[in-house]
Amino acid sequence: MTNAYLDVGMQSRMNRIINPKDNRVVMLAVDHPYFQGPTTGLRNMSNTIKTLLPYCDCLMTTRGAVRSNIAPEDLGSKPIMLRVSGGNSVLFDELSDEKLTVTIREAIRMDVAGVAVSVYVGSANQQQTILNLTDMINQAEEYGIPVLAVTAVGKNMARDLRYLSLASRMCQDAGARIIKTYYCEEFSRLVDAVAPTAVVVAGGKYSSPPDALQMAYDSVQAGAVGVDFGRNIFQDDNPVGMIRAIRAIVHDNHTVREAMDIYTACLPGAVKLD
Ligand code: 5RP
Repeated sequence: MTNAYLDVGMQSRMNRIINPKDNRVVMLAVDHPYFQGPTTGLRNMSNTIKTLLPYCDCLMTTRGAVRSNIAPEDLGSKPIMLRVSGGNSVLFDELSDEKLTVTIREAIRMDVAGVAVSVYVGSANQQQTILNLTDMINQAEEYGIPVLAVTAVGKNMARDLRYLSLASRMCQDAGARIIKTYYCEEFSRLVDAVAPTAVVVAGGKYSSPPDALQMAYDSVQAGAVGVDFGRNIFQDDNPVGMIRAIRAIVHDNHTVREAMDIYTACLPGAVKLD
């Protein structure tokens, strides 16, 4: 096929995010301070990014972190998925009160591969957050920049197939190129419901290496293109071992047991991140 039939800018950026050789991605989420402030594992954000950047395929982060916490020599070494929604904080129970926080012009200037917007379906601010997503899609598509929709879940919302499929399908219909959601039982039904749109799975709160690796394994087995994990990597006692084990599952189809062997082999000398 010739490129004449493709939106080449969009395809080029999608290829930078999701490896076209295996259609898989290990995205590292370090965007949490935008509403959580100094999160454990991200207090020394520059060190966390320096330590883990070599092992991720794509870094999901914020404008401030790109400016202040990626070493100049590392800029451009990995594609950036830039969070462009915010306005909330952990000080309020209702997390859904977000608006767009970064312009498309700024995202282009920063040479990002994609932009990410959270959508809180079923929340007090459902319409506002869906319109954040569609506004950004309208702007980003003009420049061939993919939009990743985060199916964010408020404190009182269920993380089950019914809810997550509803939210994911709504994001697909809005025009998102990649959907980030949580793992749930019968996850392949969610992937089928939004096919062929790429799905990546969020890690959620820190659990344990075997549980997080099992979630990564189950996600890709169910058809996800990969994971966008944060806390289960940077809050682990062995963060490099953890991200290397996740890579083995996502890119090399390792079992959880094989991935745990990689994790264990990295334990001597493991350095916890602040
Ligand atoms: C917050 C986000 C985070 O990036 C997401 O939750 C992934 O991080 P973790 O694996 O720690 O849950 O999008 O809205």
